[in-house]
Amino acid sequence: MSILAKQNYRGAYHVSPRENWMNDPNGMVYFEGEYHLFFQHHPYDDTNGPMHWGHLVSKDLVTWEELDIALYPDEHGVIFSGSAVVDWNNTTGFFENGPGLVAIFTHHLEVEDSHPIQRQSLAFSTDKGRTWVKYEGNPVLEHENFIDFRDPKVFWHEEKSRWGMIIACGQTVGLYHSLDLKTWTFGSEFGDGIGSHDGVWECPDLFPLEVDGDAKQVKWVMLVSIGADPAFIEGSRTQYFTGEFDGVTFTPDAASKEVRWADHGRDNYAGITWSDIPAEDGRRLFIGWMSNWKYANQTPTEGFRGAMTIPRELTLETVNGIATLVQKPAVELESARKPILTLKNVTASDVAEALQQLHLVSYEIHAELPPNQSLGFKVRVGQFNETIVGVDASANTIYVDRTKSGLHSFHADFLGVHAAKLLSIDEMLALRIFVDAGSVEVFGSEGQAVITDLIYPDADATGISFFSAHSDAIIPSLSLYELIPSAAAKAN
Ligand code: FRU
Repeated sequence: MSILAKQNYRGAYHVSPRENWMNDPNGMVYFEGEYHLFFQHHPYDDTNGPMHWGHLVSKDLVTWEELDIALYPDEHGVIFSGSAVVDWNNTTGFFENGPGLVAIFTHHLEVEDSHPIQRQSLAFSTDKGRTWVKYEGNPVLEHENFIDFRDPKVFWHEEKSRWGMIIACGQTVGLYHSLDLKTWTFGSEFGDGIGSHDGVWECPDLFPLEVDGDAKQVKWVMLVSIGADPAFIEGSRTQYFTGEFDGVTFTPDAASKEVRWADHGRDNYAGITWSDIPAEDGRRLFIGWMSNWKYANQTPTEGFRGAMTIPRELTLETVNGIATLVQKPAVELESARKPILTLKNVTASDVAEALQQLHLVSYEIHAELPPNQSLGFKVRVGQFNETIVGVDASANTIYVDRTKSGLHSFHADFLGVHAAKLLSIDEMLALRIFVDAGSVEVFGSEGQAVITDLIYPDADATGISFFSAHSDAIIPSLSLYELIPSAAAKAN
């Protein structure tokens, strides 16, 4: 990686556009050995603008190739967020020779002296997503009342043998169904009087997950992102609900009456999950946009702006009697690991001494820590910078403190400390920390508590340190790996 790339805060293992602007992940679908990741893209500038669908593909979720732009604006408007599916049975009639890809997206049309119009449209591809044809019958779904009517996420609903769609409708989501992706029937609306309404509802997703891996106990998970409102320092963020879905109505669990955030950092927004992951794999894979509308247009990168979180596997696990969304780094990232350090049953001061020798930018720390003790790591440490990833035993939280992380003056609300409650106290606290050129992602208690934060340290802030309230505390284990995606590419 060149020095310039480092100064640009371009992550080594986080996917970002070759140049210019990126926001939401779109159209994530797995087909014929490739993970497709389309994204909201302004190809001619590094700020938000007329949206296109950029296109990235990967065979391993670690190394990505950027392909030609998939969808360009047209007479119906610019191309806002949406999803893609494999039409295995040619329900659309678009595919005569085997299955193909269908994208379902929002056409956003600016109208002079009036509000914009948001309608849903289709495009299809018969060449593994390389080229796309827009459906001549576009748009296929509009609404007479909702001004904000966007971000359709389509899924095959096995039980009903038909397509389902969840779509953002201002302060609620709409649930629709269809036999051919072209004609949609309204089912129900969800969201009135429940969840956070601190911003416009956007980019929903709806999918089934087994609770604790038990095929007999399936619940549906609904993700709903909410836009940035100046009244709230948090900016844009993502909440989730768990419940039942019968193909028409989503009925939330009692636990969903409380607002539940998917991520407790500031920079994981508009995340949705991949469609058509093969049954023999069976994972529910997620990626989010690693930024926040509060300051997304001002972040101090050069030549490009915007990146995705690391890909994550979502599961539902019972924690304190409640089905809880859990996120784990996709296991594929382990193929990028270059082992740097392994320590077992050493004291806190031994850990501090070992880490002091290291200088790294892109790496993973995997630690098993004693419970109920205040301690932590400082990453991207330099003369002027440090980012703290710590455990606060008295508050029973993990936290990221980016108050001294580096550049921040681009927005008054960027500085801050972001904490996530540890829901259960085990014998050991597992902590995984992913550090890269411009970000920190922390997974506490096996992914029950997650914090994703952007940081902008000096390029030479590469130090790592460890601190603990008790220097003789025994640290059960610590592994540190440099993350080098090219290693994964070679292994393929
Ligand atoms: C969410 C969002 C979507 C919209 C897209 C436009 O970040 O506002 O609701 O489709 O971005 O780029």
